[in-house]
Amino acid sequence: MPLNSPQKVSVIGLGYVGLPLAVALAEHFNVLGLDIDHGRTEELAEGHDRTGEVTPDSLKKSRCTYTSEAADLANSDIFIVAVPTPVDDEKVPDLGPLRGACESVGPHVTGGSVVVFESTVFPGATEDICGPILERLSGLVCGKDFFLGYSPERMNPGDTEHTVANIVKVVAGQTPEVSDLLENVYGRITKAGVFMARDIQTAEAAKVIENAQRDINIAFINEATQIFHKLGLSMYDVLEAANTKWNFLNFQPGLVGGHCIGVDPYYLAYRAAQIGHDPDVLLAGRRTNDGMGAWIAQQITTALGGPARVLVLGLTFKENVPDLRNSGAYGLIKALEKLGNDVVVHDACADPAEAKAIYGVELIPDISGSDFACVVGAVAHDVYKDLSADALTALMKSGGILADIKGIWRAKSFDPNIRRWDL
Ligand SMILES: NC(=O)c1ccc[n+]([C@@H]2O[C@H](COP(=O)([O-])OP(=O)(O)OC[C@H]3O[C@@H](n4cnc5c(N)ncnc54)[C@H](O)[C@@H]3O)[C@@H](O)[C@H]2O)c1
Repeated sequence: MPLNSPQKVSVIGLGYVGLPLAVALAEHFNVLGLDIDHGRTEELAEGHDRTGEVTPDSLKKSRCTYTSEAADLANSDIFIVAVPTPVDDEKVPDLGPLRGACESVGPHVTGGSVVVFESTVFPGATEDICGPILERLSGLVCGKDFFLGYSPERMNPGDTEHTVANIVKVVAGQTPEVSDLLENVYGRITKAGVFMARDIQTAEAAKVIENAQRDINIAFINEATQIFHKLGLSMYDVLEAANTKWNFLNFQPGLVGGHCIGVDPYYLAYRAAQIGHDPDVLLAGRRTNDGMGAWIAQQITTALGGPARVLVLGLTFKENVPDLRNSGAYGLIKALEKLGNDVVVHDACADPAEAKAIYGVELIPDISGSDFACVVGAVAHDVYKDLSADALTALMKSGGILADIKGIWRAKSFDPNIRRWDL
């Protein structure tokens, strides 16, 4: 079956990944964006992107149209799926959104259609899980009547350098013709080039190890941090020295959250277990990183001499983004509270209603107070980096502890009355 020429491209899932992609593609194709969240499509149609990835100006100028009705997918030539791939409470891949997207797309797949997945999955998911759903709902044969593709996403929320237009795009198609089509389509939106992976499973595997590799490297640094603390050494001091070596890898200690680095290793671990391999290193890394919040809470509480009033600065999963999902700082806050501390939380980027809805955390509106026994820099938002030594000191009572988890205040000088604690 010859492939359809890409007249109408539909992007399914308009979050951090799908929206910038849809807007970029809309400069070259007729693009429809579908999201099951009606509130999301309404806000996009009004020119507002709550993730902050696409500016109001670009949204307003874009020819992309939005819908929450799967019926509107009809007559699409290419479908690109960018829905979430989280894990459940047992850390098992939750493929519900991916299956749901396939169920929306399936009835609209026709001869010559191409369905491309951008969601991060384990090797085999596109062909073994998504393909059969699409076949069942279209009544067509995958690889003969319609075709699959995979193109992992590498964008980095809040990072204006590594955007869709500036990063190499890996693509893989079910046939060489599909790979060529994807090279052509994605080649229109990236200046950095398109890399054609050998096949779909190779592209899926490449994505999942990119993030698992980061997780394991950070876990190593976190474990070394714990060892060095027992020796009375600061990891940041150690890193400054070690980083002078040409091939030392510059990973930082800290909390690992978000829906990529802390999640994707479980996808690979799941696939490994399915084929009878015990993924020791992957899961050890996850355990170490997941345990960092509790470890830091214990260290701070011990340094305080017992539970106290603590101000935590930062709740989002990383700096300068509003995304609260899988917050590492929340794990730290829970652990501090479990040890009896009275914890007050501020976040310069998060939506207070969302913080309340997801975690039950009431964010204070301003960085204020003068009687905290400890101020914790949990997320390196620029606003926190820019706080002066005087402003930080004013928040604390005499003898207070400044817990600088991200190492953002190391260069500042403080009155000897303020005790410094870092990783
Ligand atoms: N955010 C990142 O930095 C990043 C980077 C690389 C890869 N990824 C991967 O890309 C995928 C998407 O991530 P994201 O951060 O954009 O997620 P997101 O949660 O920001 O957005 C996903 C969107 O999909 C919508 N959705 C869910 N189920 C749907 C369905 N059945 N039909 C239509 N829409 C549906 C949601 O309403 C949401 O708006 C994930 O697999 C993620 O692992 C994310």
